[in-house]
Amino acid sequence: MSLEKMDDYFNSRVEIYENDMIGNRLDELYERIANLVDIDSTSPKLLDLGCGTGLELERLFTKYPDMNVTGIDLSSEMLNKLKNKYKDKNINLICGSYFDINFGSDYDVVLSTYSLHHFNETEKLLIYKKVYDSMKSGRLYIEGDKNAKTEELQQFHLSELERLKKEQNVSDGSFYHYDTPLTVENQIKLLKLAGFTNIKIMRHVENETIGESIIIARKPNYSYLVDFDNMDWSEPATGLKFKAFANGSQQIRLVEFSEGFVESDWCKKGHAGYVLDGEFANDYNGVLERYKKGDVIFIPKGEQSKHKAILGKGEKVTLLLFEIIE
Ligand SMILES: C[S@@+](CC[C@H](N)C(=O)[O-])C[C@H]1O[C@@H](n2cnc3c(N)ncnc32)[C@H](O)[C@@H]1O
Repeated sequence: MSLEKMDDYFNSRVEIYENDMIGNRLDELYERIANLVDIDSTSPKLLDLGCGTGLELERLFTKYPDMNVTGIDLSSEMLNKLKNKYKDKNINLICGSYFDINFGSDYDVVLSTYSLHHFNETEKLLIYKKVYDSMKSGRLYIEGDKNAKTEELQQFHLSELERLKKEQNVSDGSFYHYDTPLTVENQIKLLKLAGFTNIKIMRHVENETIGESIIIARKPNYSYLVDFDNMDWSEPATGLKFKAFANGSQQIRLVEFSEGFVESDWCKKGHAGYVLDGEFANDYNGVLERYKKGDVIFIPKGEQSKHKAILGKGEKVTLLLFEIIE
C-alpha cells in the first residue's frame, strides 16, 4: 500500500466521497448524532472537526436552521463542496489541521465524525484537551467514528503505519491517510484524562475486525479553576494592579507591582505568597528583604511584621498571594 498525504487523499476523492459514505449505515450514524444534539437555542454554536463535505451537518441544519458552524478540515476541496452545499448557512470554514488551529471558545456542541481515527493516543489526547477548552461548561462533545476491536489490533495498525512510513521513506511531520483507530476503552480513557465526565457509548457495532461507535462526553458544569485569564485587572494605584478571586473570607490575588508604586502607609495584614516573576524588596520597619522569582513569602499579620513593598528603577514583580479578608 502506498501512503498518500491526508489532504491529497481527500482532495482527489471529493467527487466520489459522498456516494461512498451515504446510503449505508453511516446515514443511521448521522441521524443518531443529530438526535443527540439537544440545545435550548435556535442558533447553537457548533464546532466540527474534520467536517469534510459536511454530511453530518445536513440533519442538524434541518433541526437548527440558524446554527452557527465552525468547520475545520485539511482538504480545501472537501471544504469547497461543503460551502457550495450550504450557501445560505452561517458557516466559518478553516482549512488546516486541527492540531495547529486555535478552536476558539464558547461552543454549545463539538462534533467529529469519521476523522479522528487517523491518530494515536498522544495525538488524540491533545485534540480532546483543545475540545474541552473550547466548550461552554455542561455541553456535549460527540464523536462518531471507527474503533479497533482489540488493543492488539490498535497496536497492529499503529505499527503498520510506522513500518510503511519507514519503508516508503516519508517524512514524520505530515499526516498520511492510514486508519489507526483506537479501542472504545482507550478513547474513553483519553476523554476522562482530558477532563470530560458522563462519558457514554450511544452506539457500538462491530464486525470481525473493526467497530464503529458514537461516544458522548460532557464538560462538567462545575469548575474549581481560578480563571485569572478571563478576569480584568484592577488598577487602584500607580504601579499596582491585581486580579482577585474571593470565596468567603479567603482570597487569592494575582498582583503586579512595578516602578512608581509607593505604599503610603505600613501594611499590617498577613500574606502568604509566591513570586511568579521579577523581583522586589519589602521594607520591614527599616530592614529590607529582597525576593525573586520562585521565592515563597509568609508574612504574619500584626505590628511586628508591618511592611511596605519597594520597587527599584525598572523593577517589576508578579506575585500570587493567598490572604484572609477581614
Ligand atoms: C472520512 S472524512 C469525514 C468527513 C466528515 N466528517 C464526514 O463524516 O463525512 C475525514 C476528514 O477529516 C479530515 N482530516 C483528517 N486529518 C485532519 C486534520 N489533522 N485536521 C483537519 N482535518 C483533518 C480530512 O481532510 C477529511 O475531510
